Amino acid sequence: MKGLILSGGKGTRLRPLTYTSAKQLIPVANKPVLFYCLEAMKEAGIEDVGIIVGDTKKDIMEAVGDGSRFGLKVTYIEQEAPLGLAHAVKISEEFMGGDRFVMMLGDNLIMEGIKRFVESFDRDTANSHILLARVKNPRQFGVAIVKEGKVVDLVEKPKEPISDLALVGVYLFDSTIFEAVKHIKPSWRGELEITDAIAWLVKNGYTVSHHLVSGWWKDTGKLEDILEANRLVLDQLEERVEGEVDEFSAVEFKVVIEKGAKVVRSRIRGPAIIGSGTLIEDSYIGPFTSIASGCTIRGVELEHSIIMDECEIINTGARISDSLLGKNVRVVKGERVPRTISIMAGDSSFITLP
Ligand code: TTP
Repeated sequence: MKGLILSGGKGTRLRPLTYTSAKQLIPVANKPVLFYCLEAMKEAGIEDVGIIVGDTKKDIMEAVGDGSRFGLKVTYIEQEAPLGLAHAVKISEEFMGGDRFVMMLGDNLIMEGIKRFVESFDRDTANSHILLARVKNPRQFGVAIVKEGKVVDLVEKPKEPISDLALVGVYLFDSTIFEAVKHIKPSWRGELEITDAIAWLVKNGYTVSHHLVSGWWKDTGKLEDILEANRLVLDQLEERVEGEVDEFSAVEFKVVIEKGAKVVRSRIRGPAIIGSGTLIEDSYIGPFTSIASGCTIRGVELEHSIIMDECEIINTGARISDSLLGKNVRVVKGERVPRTISIMAGDSSFITLP
C-alpha cells in the first residue's frame, strides 16, 4: 500500500501564520503536525508516500526532505491551486500506479494512529474505508449517513442535521476512487469534494466500509483546535529534564526540558515542553504550554499556549493564555509613559486585551 498526505490548501483560518508558513508545520508539543502523519504512515508499514504541496511547497520540502529521516520514500506532487481534497486525489493517480492507498490530511492528528486500518484494508476487498467520529457541530464537517451499519450517503457541511458522524481526516481507497473523482463536479465553493467522490462510489455500487474512532482526533485548522491538539498531545508526554534547572526553580508534573534549555528562578507546571536554547527566567509556565527553541521568556506568566522559535516575551504583566505565537515574535512591556499599548501585527492578526 502507498500513502498520500495532503499538505497544500489555503489555510485561511490560521492567518496570519499561514501567510508566511505552511499550517502543517505549526508545532504541536514542539513537533510539526505533518510529522505526526509521517510517523503514523511509517508505523503502519507504508514506505512510499506522496505529499501534495501547494504554495508552501518550499517550506514543506525543506522540513521533510526525501523522507529518509522518517524511514520513508517521499514523492512531492504539486497541486496548481487548492482545488479540493478530491482534486488532490485526482493528481496522484500516476503516483499510486493502481495500488491501494491511505490518505491523510496533513493538518489532522489521530491518537490511535492508522496501523490497524491500513492492515485490515490491505487484506480487505472493500473499495474504500472511512473513519468517522461523532461531533457536536456536524455543519462544519463532511458527514456520512449510516443506515443499518452501512454507509448510504455522504454530505459536505450539511445544513440540516442529517448525521453527526464526521469524516475523520484518514481515508483508504483502491483505484476506483480515480473513476469517482473524474465523475464529480466542483461544489458551490469551487472545490472537488472528497465527500462527493465517496458518495459517488456508494451510489455506483462500490463498497465503502467504515469505522467509528474511539480515541481523540483533531483537525488543527483553527486556533482553538490547534491549542486543543497541543493539550491532548502534551497530556501524553513522558517527563524528561535534560536542560538546566537552577535550585530556585520548581518543575512539576510531565515536563520536558530539552538539552540546552535553561530554567532560572521559575516554576514550570506541566504538561509542558521547553525547547533547546530557550531561557525561562523569573516566570511561571503553566499547563499545556509548548515553547519551541531559542526563546527568551522573562518575568512572564504563560499557560495553554504554543510559542514558536526565537520568540521574546518579557514582563508582560497579565498572564498570557490561549495564544499561538509564530516565529520571532516579541511581546514586551514598554518602559515609557504614557502607558499605551503598541502593536505591530501582520494582516489578519488578532489580539485580545485584558
Ligand atoms: P482544509 O483545512 O479543509 O482547507 P485549507 O487548508 O484550504 O484551510 P482553510 O479552510 O482554513 O482555508 O484542508 C485540509 C488539508 O488538506 C490541509 O492539510 C490542506 C490540504 N489541502 C490540499 O492539500 N489541497 C486542497 O486542495 C485542499 C482544499 C486542502
